[in-house]
Amino acid sequence: MKPAEAGDAPGLYIHVPFCEARCSYCDFYSVARGDAPTHDYAGALAAEAGQRVPAAFAPATVFIGGGTPTALSDRDFEAVLAVVRSIAVRSGRLREWTVECNPGSLTRAKARLLAAAGVTRVSIGVQSFDDVVLRSVGRVHDAREAREAVAIAHEAGLDQVSVDLLFAIPGQGLATFRRDLREALRLGTDHVSAYALLYEEGTALTRGLAVKRVEPEDERIELTMMRLAREVLADAGLAAYEISNFARPGAACRHNLNYWRNGPYLGLGPAAVSYVDGERRGNVADWRRWQDHVLRGDDPAASRERLRPETAAREELMLRLRLAEGASLAAVETRWGVDLRSALGDLVCRFRDAGLLVADVDLDVVCLTARGREVADGILAEILSAERVFP
Ligand SMILES: C[S@@+](CC[C@H](N)C(=O)[O-])C[C@H]1O[C@@H](n2cnc3c(N)ncnc32)[C@H](O)[C@@H]1O
Ligand code: SF4
Repeated sequence: MKPAEAGDAPGLYIHVPFCEARCSYCDFYSVARGDAPTHDYAGALAAEAGQRVPAAFAPATVFIGGGTPTALSDRDFEAVLAVVRSIAVRSGRLREWTVECNPGSLTRAKARLLAAAGVTRVSIGVQSFDDVVLRSVGRVHDAREAREAVAIAHEAGLDQVSVDLLFAIPGQGLATFRRDLREALRLGTDHVSAYALLYEEGTALTRGLAVKRVEPEDERIELTMMRLAREVLADAGLAAYEISNFARPGAACRHNLNYWRNGPYLGLGPAAVSYVDGERRGNVADWRRWQDHVLRGDDPAASRERLRPETAAREELMLRLRLAEGASLAAVETRWGVDLRSALGDLVCRFRDAGLLVADVDLDVVCLTARGREVADGILAEILSAERVFP
């Protein structure tokens, strides 16, 4: 079967740049709640929306992420939901609206606000159900609050609940991760994101690694954990539709599917990225500067880049290869007007011969194999950087 085309309808992403406290491993842009006046955020968001959202903008999906959207007070949270409603619900095209929530701050009052606003899906950052593991990476919630957050979402009628889990946290171990997976399933979630812990530059965790205060998980155990996630989740009916994302039929995240299919999206808020009409732009990753810009009516972009067709085509191939449906090289070529198969055909054949991907005869549809998914980072990096001349 051919991979799906990215739809025309864009996604809308809103970045909420506050957290209760910063986790030791995270390099997403956010500041601890006490360090910023969070009550100014919704007004600034409305100002940015007024400047940057075209009147005819009709998103099919919305994703409010962060940071921690639920770190806002109820009043500010409601104001943010109202801004999003005014942009997205008026168009009548909205099919999915996700909000990232943290255990502890997803209260019954917030869940009611979500349901009343028309949110269809919540993604809960559980990470683990082991309190020692949670504390070791600076999470401010415990396992009881994680279970409660899922129950609160269900009680409020938010049926689509995704649980984020982390694996290969130092000290977590295979048995705990197996319990984490089983517990996520027991709570009745229909979507799980299971990410291997990454050592990002500039984080407290990575500094700990440099001074040997942190010892990373053994690579073989990390690989076993990755396989375990696929096995346990597949047995429960949650198929891997992306390398780290698992869903029951019909429960895949449409917003992220649009992103992996290289579809258009508009991002609002500090550090939010947009990809519209072939241009990628990123807002300044500093809440104060972002706010000053948007309240003055200035553009808060810190970077703007129009990708060359060859780069755009490679990036699309990389993104699509993350998906179980794979990529159609022919479709990517048509979209960007480049001869991708002449440029990357040798590399694709090399990966195919090494058992890392499967491709049909004319190298049209290509998909990673089980082994390919396990070493995907290396494969995707080679596709992006391979020195090939485009004819
Ligand atoms: C940036 S958070 C935002 C949502 C929410 N604040 C939370 O903590 O779940 C989104 C997801 O990215 C994951 N994440 C952040 N840094 C990561 C890292 N270094 N390695 C793997 N996953 C990471 C988080 O654990 C979380 O599941
Ligand atoms: S993982 Fe989530 S809660 Fe932790 S610092 Fe990052 S955005 Fe904030």
